[in-house]
Amino acid sequence: MKELLKRLSPDERDWSLAREIDPKRIPAHVAIIMDGNGRWARQRNFPRIMGHRAGIGSVKTVTETCAQLGLEALTLYAFSVENWKRPRHEVEGLWRLLRHYLRREVSSLIENDIQLVAIGRIESLPAFVQDELTDVMEKTSRNQGMRLNLAINYGGRTELVDAVNAMIDSARIDGTLDSLEVTEETISAYLYTSGLRDPDLLIRTSGEMRISNFLLWQIAYSEIYVTSTLWPDFGRTELLEALVDYQRRERRFGGVTRAVSPAAQEDQLLLEEIEVPLR
Ligand code: IPE
Ligand code: IPE
Ligand code: MG
Repeated sequence: MKELLKRLSPDERDWSLAREIDPKRIPAHVAIIMDGNGRWARQRNFPRIMGHRAGIGSVKTVTETCAQLGLEALTLYAFSVENWKRPRHEVEGLWRLLRHYLRREVSSLIENDIQLVAIGRIESLPAFVQDELTDVMEKTSRNQGMRLNLAINYGGRTELVDAVNAMIDSARIDGTLDSLEVTEETISAYLYTSGLRDPDLLIRTSGEMRISNFLLWQIAYSEIYVTSTLWPDFGRTELLEALVDYQRRERRFGGVTRAVSPAAQEDQLLLEEIEVPLR
């Protein structure tokens, strides 16, 4: 948080937004469905790929702001397992843009102490993309600051399938398949996000009210924030607005508000009085 304030001046709108954020309740993990690049381009009569190119600017701004805020992890949905259905030239354009992004950003990832990890079925990507990803992951692997997960060729169901298969394989190797015990913890440990906390906040840009196969297991209790802003227009201000909104929420995880707990005593008295039949 201090890192962010250092970069802002008090006459900026982002300064007053940042001051609204309680540094003690910054989400540990934010996940973002970066959507709306195509519509952004269409509004300008540009080819779709120009929207994706403009989206890279948002990736950079949002990543650096999250690191300055002190997040533990940021997970960005860049390409889903379903996105192969798009025209070949768009998919190929995306791989070239990804290479461009990785080459250009590796030094600033290192400067900002960010560790980049690609999550998804990376082995099915074109070889030149895999090489580039391996290179950046290696170069940033010793960074201790924020972890940036880039979800590429990612699907929430695919991730669960991979987790179950990996679990079975390792039990087979250990000879413990017959006594394999599956718990929520073991499933989490075999996901691509193993070791990370579940996202506190899930953001989707461009107004779509759906999950599109993203982090199905991990978002069980994430707060969801949907904005109509298209991804290329989503910058620092929009991110800070999302965080302010998030901090106004009350996360109950199935429990009840602490503020109403005195009423719990009343509920108890009432229950005793009316002798609620238990059937
Ligand atoms: C999101 O933008 C980026 C990717 C899925 C790669 P879209 O390309 O889905 O943009 P819209 O939804 O068509 O506007
Ligand atoms: C979700 O966006 C995938 C990414 C942002 C990478 P899509 O644009 O592919 O999702 P749908 O098709 O609108 O659900
Ligand atoms: Mg879309």
